[in-house]
Amino acid sequence: MQIVSALPDLRAARASLSGSLGLVPTMGALHAGHMALVTRARNENDCVGASIFVNPSQFGPNEDLSKYPRPLERDLTLLKEAGVDLVWTPSPAEVYPPGFQTWVEVSDVSRPLEGTHRPGHFRGVATVVAKLFNAFTPDRAYFGQKDAQQVIVLAQMRRDLGFPLQMVVCPTVREADGLALSSRNVYLDPQERAAAPILYRALSAARAAYDAGERCGERLRAIMSEILASEPLARVDYVSAADPETLLDVESRADRFLLSMAVCIGRTRLIDNVMLGESDLFPREEQA
Ligand code: PAF
Repeated sequence: MQIVSALPDLRAARASLSGSLGLVPTMGALHAGHMALVTRARNENDCVGASIFVNPSQFGPNEDLSKYPRPLERDLTLLKEAGVDLVWTPSPAEVYPPGFQTWVEVSDVSRPLEGTHRPGHFRGVATVVAKLFNAFTPDRAYFGQKDAQQVIVLAQMRRDLGFPLQMVVCPTVREADGLALSSRNVYLDPQERAAAPILYRALSAARAAYDAGERCGERLRAIMSEILASEPLARVDYVSAADPETLLDVESRADRFLLSMAVCIGRTRLIDNVMLGESDLFPREEQA
């Protein structure tokens, strides 16, 4: 496995790989969700590349950039064992050199949900992922459904800017009690960890109502909110039953919904989602 930090070294290492390349972009602190992306990339491509970069531009001023976990040696061991060929571990100055002033902004779908609560977040994500696409020139790039809005924003960027690659979206990996795997789960103390599955319980209750025939967006939101309100450690940022194309809340009836939520458990902000009315592969495999 080649490990490089400087961009010219990445380009040289990329050029030495032949056949198709699958890219798994990460911020490190790898868990089984990331490794499922790597496994899928390994199965579908001749070579696999990964990036480990805690991207400062996608963190707000009061977010956890400085304390975000960075277990680099462990991450590299996991990637090597999973058969990754090339890892890029750039410094912030490598990605954002002095004088940097070009940003990628995806307008409409960046605004609701996470966009309302984390202004600038998707501008940072889109910019760094555009740079990763340019640097690796992958044939396929792998993302988790856990970050559903991120997938939708990046799919829009891929279409608008014409990146010649396929985006592949993999299902959310969960603990046995339903908690979606996230690098931020390590922040939860034992009491908070016990409370955290409330997100999936709320999503599952709304899904059960949908399966029983409920099609009203307002009612689905009410079902989720009621369950979240039963957990004293949970503080809700938003609960949404949205149109999966626009990400705007559906007020009346619809057949397809993206149910999503952001909830603070203690000081840890967790997000989760499920799709209703469509297969788990969300929104669809993005064809170049
Ligand atoms: O999902 C993540 O880990 C990050 O947002 C990504 C896509 C690696 C960009 O920094």
